[in-house]
Amino acid sequence: MRSKSLLRICCVLVALTILLPRLAAAESPAERDARMQWWRDARFGLFIHWGLYAIPAGKWQGQPVGGIGEWIMNSANIPVEQYEQLAQQFNPVQYNADQWVRAAKDAGMRYIVITSKHHDGFSLFDSAVSSYDVVDATPYGKCLLKPLADACRREGLKFCVYHSIMDWHHPAQYRASADQYNPTKIHPERKQEYVDYMKAQLRELLTCCDPAVLWFDGEWVDWWTEEDARELATFLRELKPNIIINNRIGKGRQGMEGMNKDDQQYSGDFGTPEQQIPATGLAGVDWETCMTMNDTWGFVADDHNWKSAESLIRNIIDTASKGGNYLLNVGPTAQGEIPQPSLERLAQIGAWMRKNGESIYATQANPLADTPWGRCTRRTLADGSTRLYLHVFDWPSNGQLAVGDVPGVPHRAMLLDGRQPLKLSVDGQQVNITLPPTAPDKIASVVVLELKPTQ
Ligand code: GLC
Repeated sequence: MRSKSLLRICCVLVALTILLPRLAAAESPAERDARMQWWRDARFGLFIHWGLYAIPAGKWQGQPVGGIGEWIMNSANIPVEQYEQLAQQFNPVQYNADQWVRAAKDAGMRYIVITSKHHDGFSLFDSAVSSYDVVDATPYGKCLLKPLADACRREGLKFCVYHSIMDWHHPAQYRASADQYNPTKIHPERKQEYVDYMKAQLRELLTCCDPAVLWFDGEWVDWWTEEDARELATFLRELKPNIIINNRIGKGRQGMEGMNKDDQQYSGDFGTPEQQIPATGLAGVDWETCMTMNDTWGFVADDHNWKSAESLIRNIIDTASKGGNYLLNVGPTAQGEIPQPSLERLAQIGAWMRKNGESIYATQANPLADTPWGRCTRRTLADGSTRLYLHVFDWPSNGQLAVGDVPGVPHRAMLLDGRQPLKLSVDGQQVNITLPPTAPDKIASVVVLELKPTQ
């Protein structure tokens, strides 16, 4: 009797292990849409690059080291035994997760992606499979991610993590050459050990912090294959079926342009352009541009090359008008503070988003052929009419905003901020909207144009 029921249980278990991955793979388009919905609606998130590299902050042994902050171990060619000593100094006592989340929320951001482990291999959470983490190796001794995940949940933001596949610290991997780590090599006989290590860490992250997105990176190493990616994605979807994963889990990404290189099926849910916004919209694919506010992801004390709030706001608009998300980075200091220039920009963005957020969140890409005055996003209303959000960067000196080839019958126009009605006239295929003499917003004023469906 007993052995029969044991046999039955075994059969069910075997069937489940075979079936579950197939079920996960066989997601219908409607199920995918439902899973991606919050992310598509969010449009704007905060990237946080934080780790031991914030201590040297761009200098090694008194000398400035060129390049981005989180790459200093590679750029200054620092031996593992020396770099890992930084952990003993890592004590971010100023860290206040609530403040960070409030800064993001006030900026209008809907999600946060933070480095759980960057290429240097150091973990910002308590990992049972590593002692090279913030709890075991630093005087600070507390998990940095859990408080942020909790604060995100309290404030209604999605908590997400970045995790590097390439690892300059794990003994299974070794330097590409005597003077650089990137791209690491792996001892073939230890690859499985590393994959198991990574899976164990990801399971820990899912358990402690329940991230909504896993944002992989460092996938360009030769030893990581598309098959490895598929296997990892299946493992993750079994743990959390509605998880969203970027395309850097697999081998599809085409350089910094970030979209998949061809029509083959690659792992991952969305493309990841880096430091660039595609020139035109990308129909039918999900993508997110990630970008720095200055020139580095991880904190560099001497990098003062800040983008203006104007260009950051216009980047959010430009990205949304092309149907993508904008993930804007901050690199906190080793003490646990988001640099003041970043906070100032977040506040300025927030002021604009509070007035104009309706033109960004849950909108679709621009349907117009030509928008010489700025950018356009779109929303379909319940009654089938369309609302076009015309983001005017260059306020017309003749007081007339000309909009060509609109997809519907022009109904009414107004300023988004304050809802002031605007006069509208139709001239063949062109709509002319009469504007107030001066732009209500120097950065981008939003004019709403409502269209009824063409009969
Ligand atoms: C690059 C860098 C990395 C950074 C990432 C963000 O791939 O290697 O340091 O985390 O871009 O997109």
